[in-house]
Amino acid sequence: MQLAKNLSQLGTETAFEVLARAAKLAAAGKDVINLGIGQPDFKTPTHVVEAAIKAMRDGHHGYTPAKGIPALREAVANDVHIRRGVSVDPENIMIMPGGKPTMFFAIMMFGEPGAEIIYPNPGFPIYESAIRYVGAKPVPMRLLEEKGFAFSADEVLGQITDKTRLIIINTPANPTGGVTPKAELDKLAAGLERWPNVALMSDEIYDRMLYDGLQHASMLAYEGLRDRLIVLNGWSKTYAMTGWRLGYSIWPEKLISHVEKLAVNNHSCVNAPTQFAGIAALEGPQSAVDEMLVAFSERRRVIVDGLNAIPGIRCAEPGGAFYAFPNIEGTGMDSKTLQSRLLEEAGVAVVAGTSFGALGEGFVRFSYAASLAEIEDALARIKKVID
Ligand SMILES: Cc1ncc(COP(=O)(O)O)c(C=O)c1O
Repeated sequence: MQLAKNLSQLGTETAFEVLARAAKLAAAGKDVINLGIGQPDFKTPTHVVEAAIKAMRDGHHGYTPAKGIPALREAVANDVHIRRGVSVDPENIMIMPGGKPTMFFAIMMFGEPGAEIIYPNPGFPIYESAIRYVGAKPVPMRLLEEKGFAFSADEVLGQITDKTRLIIINTPANPTGGVTPKAELDKLAAGLERWPNVALMSDEIYDRMLYDGLQHASMLAYEGLRDRLIVLNGWSKTYAMTGWRLGYSIWPEKLISHVEKLAVNNHSCVNAPTQFAGIAALEGPQSAVDEMLVAFSERRRVIVDGLNAIPGIRCAEPGGAFYAFPNIEGTGMDSKTLQSRLLEEAGVAVVAGTSFGALGEGFVRFSYAASLAEIEDALARIKKVID
């Protein structure tokens, strides 16, 4: 067999490997606390599950339009209008099997040898993986601890060259929990006026997960960017629906037919019952989302304080998402070593910062999508390993 060369460029999401190793240890009888995987430890709200069951019983078993059923696209447009005060044409909304396909399609659309794509580092690992896969040059947008892991618009604008095709931003961010202040977004939007050929993909999948009264600032607010802005969002995190595979993206008029074609070539459409569940999630009661956030907020306090109390660990306060990304340099271990020692010796699954890009060295990601009791137990175990 001769495999295509580009295949060797494809990276992965280490969290899935950690999950598999943790499951193997657990199956062998080890007591494992999983702070590795980025998914809420809550169940999808019951009314959402019921909507999918009803759709199945009502006979929604066939293909749907590749863009998604009109009622769901309208529900998304309404939700965006209510939450962001922005009007979006349902025709420019694409329903996707999760958040990931949007990033892959956007990168396929703009990336090729000779092109440059600026992406967050440390950041969601699939950005860099897909950029390398299509043969484009990945240009890391540095996210630094001392800046609360927010990006600097000046620095990003300074990285643009004639070869830059696409910039990817993500706030609130994975793996850092960092939230980039609106002032930086304003500056980026203003600066991009000088680069009308550069597209922007804003990954806003954690837009409902902010703490301490922080408000989400969507790139949709910048009217001048709308003709080259792709917004990625979805149900996975907000409604605890990671396994359903349901996401959406908003595309400029000029790009929507291209993404629709990519969808037809790739997956045809999202399964119909899940799309009905998506409507129920957006239009039904939001109390489950609120309750989940109250729980995350409390856990965030416990994990940040607990990590800061361990010698050698320093943890900045994350403003959003459900991750803590402490600096572990003081432990004398590199990220990968600490990841494997915590799993093998303490039974605590975490993900090394380097899994999110080279600039993640010296950090480890903790997902606090676990119960308070588990988090407290994990902190005690980690302290023992480090002591
Ligand atoms: C920043 C970011 N974008 C997108 C995704 C993908 O979400 P989905 O599971 O819906 O594909 C994730 C999932 O962890 C994420 O952290």
